[in-house]
Amino acid sequence: DWDLGSWIDMMVKDVQQKTENARVICGLSGGVDSTVAAVLTSKAIGDRLECIFVNNGLLRHREAERVLEKYKQLDLNVHYVDASNRFLDALKGVIDPEQKRKIIGETFIRVFEAEAAKIHNAEWLLQGTLYPDVIESGHKGKGASVIKSHHNVGGLPEDMKLKVLEPLRDLFKDEVRTIGALLGVPEEIVNRQPFPGPGLAVRCLGEISRDRLDTLRAADEIFREEFSKSETYFTVWQSFCVLLPIKTVGVMGDSRTYAEVVALRAVESSDGMTADWVRVPYDVLDRTARRICNSIKGINRVVLDVTSKPPSTIEWE
Ligand code: XMP
Repeated sequence: DWDLGSWIDMMVKDVQQKTENARVICGLSGGVDSTVAAVLTSKAIGDRLECIFVNNGLLRHREAERVLEKYKQLDLNVHYVDASNRFLDALKGVIDPEQKRKIIGETFIRVFEAEAAKIHNAEWLLQGTLYPDVIESGHKGKGASVIKSHHNVGGLPEDMKLKVLEPLRDLFKDEVRTIGALLGVPEEIVNRQPFPGPGLAVRCLGEISRDRLDTLRAADEIFREEFSKSETYFTVWQSFCVLLPIKTVGVMGDSRTYAEVVALRAVESSDGMTADWVRVPYDVLDRTARRICNSIKGINRVVLDVTSKPPSTIEWE
């Protein structure tokens, strides 16, 4: 795309002029927005860009490893912080969705601050803000704007006085994906489904524990594996599993089981504001349900969410 190609050249110059010789700090999430913002900025200022990737213990199966591997290929300068224990300790006993979000947001700020404080001469904070985030920033609720504010300069210590750099703020998601592809960002990241900041915490309904997160991750990975064999998978906005905090009766061999339920959720959407449930092929559903019940201890039932947004939301919390 000619226009977006020249947009890149213009923005590279803009970032160079703005930042002069200063360091830029960036919080990477593994998603397309922060990654494209970082790759673009690193094209402009090289290793004056310092990226921080926080593992909150709420990521999908092998996600931190996968993402770090990609960042290495992209030559990004990444400080990796595994703060899983800190997040999971803080979430102990919490079941209220908004409370979960609040704790995760606050813990993120503290971890990010501590890491950023180790980087000297930083003057800028890079953010992957897009145009829809800018127009929705007045919007209150559980949406993306809430978590984006956690990455905001407002949460950082006064004495750092970071200026905000938002090179993607005039762009829509599809343009960011095109620019990412032009910049050589791997397909896996460019076409990645959106993933909420609070991660699996809002898909693990009820109390969060390491065991229940592992159960959810295993189910989620099976659904991803089976669904991605189908063409339909590449048309969805998001697809994932939700672990429900209720037990139902089942049977295994000669004995009765009493175990938790996994719900499958797949939606089509262009912006996440409204969404339609996806007609996942029956054979995908069948293989997914069988594999989940056969291989994951603690799950004896799989159900499908057939509601759209509205009246439901995409996430269950
Ligand atoms: P809902 O569930 O409100 O989700 O229909 C709309 C879109 O927003 C994502 N989402 C979040 N993203 N922090 C985020 O960064 C959050 O707290 C959050 N809650 C929902 C959701 O995955 C969907 O794409």
